[in-house]
Amino acid sequence: MAYKKFKNTRLFTRLKELKSIFNELNVAVFLVDVNYRIYDHNEKTLGLPGLSLKDNINGKICYELLFNLKSPCEHCILKNDTSLEEIYRKKIRVSLIIEKEIPGNPIPETTYFQKKQYAIRSFSGEYLIVSVMDDVSWMKKKENEQKQNEKLISLGTVVHTVAHDMQNPLLGLRLTLQTMRNRELSSFPPGDFTEKIALLEKDVNKLSKIVDEIKNVTGSKKFRLLPVRIKPVIESSLERIMRLTDSRINAVWEWLVPEDIFVMGNTTNLESIFMNLFKNSVEAFEDAGKVLFLNIWVEARIKKLTLAEKNRFHNRNWLELIIIDNAGGIPPAIIHRVFDPFFTTKRAKSGTGIGLFHIHKIIEDHEGSIDVESKGDYTRFTINFPIMENTGETL
Ligand SMILES: Nc1ncnc2c1ncn2[C@@H]1O[C@H](COP(=O)(O)OP(=O)(O)OP(=O)(O)O)[C@@H](O)[C@H]1O
Ligand SMILES: [Mg+2]
Repeated sequence: MAYKKFKNTRLFTRLKELKSIFNELNVAVFLVDVNYRIYDHNEKTLGLPGLSLKDNINGKICYELLFNLKSPCEHCILKNDTSLEEIYRKKIRVSLIIEKEIPGNPIPETTYFQKKQYAIRSFSGEYLIVSVMDDVSWMKKKENEQKQNEKLISLGTVVHTVAHDMQNPLLGLRLTLQTMRNRELSSFPPGDFTEKIALLEKDVNKLSKIVDEIKNVTGSKKFRLLPVRIKPVIESSLERIMRLTDSRINAVWEWLVPEDIFVMGNTTNLESIFMNLFKNSVEAFEDAGKVLFLNIWVEARIKKLTLAEKNRFHNRNWLELIIIDNAGGIPPAIIHRVFDPFFTTKRAKSGTGIGLFHIHKIIEDHEGSIDVESKGDYTRFTINFPIMENTGETL
């Protein structure tokens, strides 16, 4: 009877109105308590596990029911050691993009959600976590299209640069051939013929070098990865560079891992990484001419992984190599382009812009990563390699 009476009140109508607004929201919103139990949710939330309006999910564990997981989601705000009260008081928020397959879709497709979480205090004084899941797949799609466009544009630039690089030797070939065609062989003064042949040879060599580089870069040679002791590889590359140049180089080692640490790799390719890096340092040092000595710092340590990285990399140990030089630095305007193929600031000195692109590719083949940062005269490359199981463990 009391309920019938309540149904006729303005408060009841207002509540119904609010509930329908909550349900009509174009985002999934659900509230959970400290034990991950669903406290309330809107209708859109039911679509996440592909359920219908009939299903009652209140009181169920959110990660099991909505995400089909056996333990809480990787980045859940509740996994934080902070209490709910503190999350509420300090207004701590989590916002990230997650991928999720929506069950029941005829064509399985990954949906991207922006998931936001924060804490609220309910009317009864209980702290709850609000999760808002917004389908941002359209945004991701646009982003991918843009990336694709950028790739096409950069491919266009590469083709243009290669064509440009080939123009000079081709012009040289044409001119030399023209002068030779217009004259009788016997009319060449002694030595002139040999000189012309040498010019032809030089231009042909230049062209075949360009072709080799393109093949190197575009080819997908797969190497067998074997255990390689990394320190001697770096040492010998550095020594070779020191021997080959007139520059004053100081090498400073900070080797914070065992001497005999191994990575899975290919020695020739690994050498090429360090030779190219050190060569770049020397060239930058000679071009900038700012300091008296080129200092190259080599630091090796075991990378500390975050929880998320540990999951992603299957708990493998990683070697972090940091190589810093004081050769003049890379200006902020170009630093994001240094790994692009054919990007070079040394075109006048016959730089091809392949070095760092090649390094990037080799490191990817070794399942590692490389990053660059620069400040003032300093440039710092950070390289990560997975370490062979038994060597990392002994640390
Ligand atoms: N240690 C460094 N200090 C300053 N600038 C650098 C350094 N390493 C790379 N760069 C910049 O990055 C650009 C790209 O380097 P990359 O090795 O790919 O090509 P390159 O050295 O110009 O030509 P190549 O290696 O093919 O002879 C260089 O032209 C230079 O401007
Ligand atoms: Mg280079």
